[in-house]
Amino acid sequence: MSFIVAIDGPAASGKGTIARALADHFGFHHLDTGLLYRATGARGGDPVEAARSLTAADLARDDLRSAEAGQAASRVAAIPEVRAALVDFQRRFAAQKPGAVLDGRDIGTVICPEAQVKLYVVASDEVRAARRAAELGADPGAMLVQLQERDGRDSERAAAPLRPAQDAMVIDTSDLAIDEAVALAIAAVDRLRG
Ligand code: CDP
Ligand code: CDP
Repeated sequence: MSFIVAIDGPAASGKGTIARALADHFGFHHLDTGLLYRATGARGGDPVEAARSLTAADLARDDLRSAEAGQAASRVAAIPEVRAALVDFQRRFAAQKPGAVLDGRDIGTVICPEAQVKLYVVASDEVRAARRAAELGADPGAMLVQLQERDGRDSERAAAPLRPAQDAMVIDTSDLAIDEAVALAIAAVDRLRG
């Protein structure tokens, strides 16, 4: 049986950084599921058709990290048929041996509710905005407004809204260095792997 680590949380909370470090540490596969929604939004046209026909080239576009791509992603991510089109790919990815780490919004709640480890990564709005603004070379105040708008849309949608799984361990990275957050996550996996 493969081992699954599900990591969810709001924008720029540090879930991708933790996911990559865990995959590296344990030799697991890693999928940033946000890229699927970013690529779907970036294709333009009918989003359901885009989600059904995503290719590796769509996922490799170098404009997917922008704030605009994030906003477009969260709009298409509210469409149930878009989400449904992406489920099988994510579940097949998660089943790979010896294990997989997936990060997103609904991994612990919808995609892999059977995951052995579920983490819910949070940080204060101001810290998240400052970190993402530094990454993108953007203004922290404008970034704060953008992130709050996107988190609001992701939390309030009817289809797979952003929320912690009941059995998720919450990691607040507001006052943690990256290696401290990663150490907490590694310890959580070690505990459950036995
Ligand atoms: O994947 P997600 O959008 O949740 O966030 P991320 O891309 O992992 O992290 C956003 C930014 O915050 C990156 O530049 C990380 O290096 C930084 N970060 C940090 O400064 N301290 C942490 N404990 C975690 C992330
Ligand atoms: O890195 P960051 O947290 O800023 O965003 P992301 O993980 O790349 O996700 C972009 C958008 O895709 C999110 O705001 C969600 O609307 C959507 N998303 C989702 O609905 N479900 C997922 N599993 C992952 C992302």
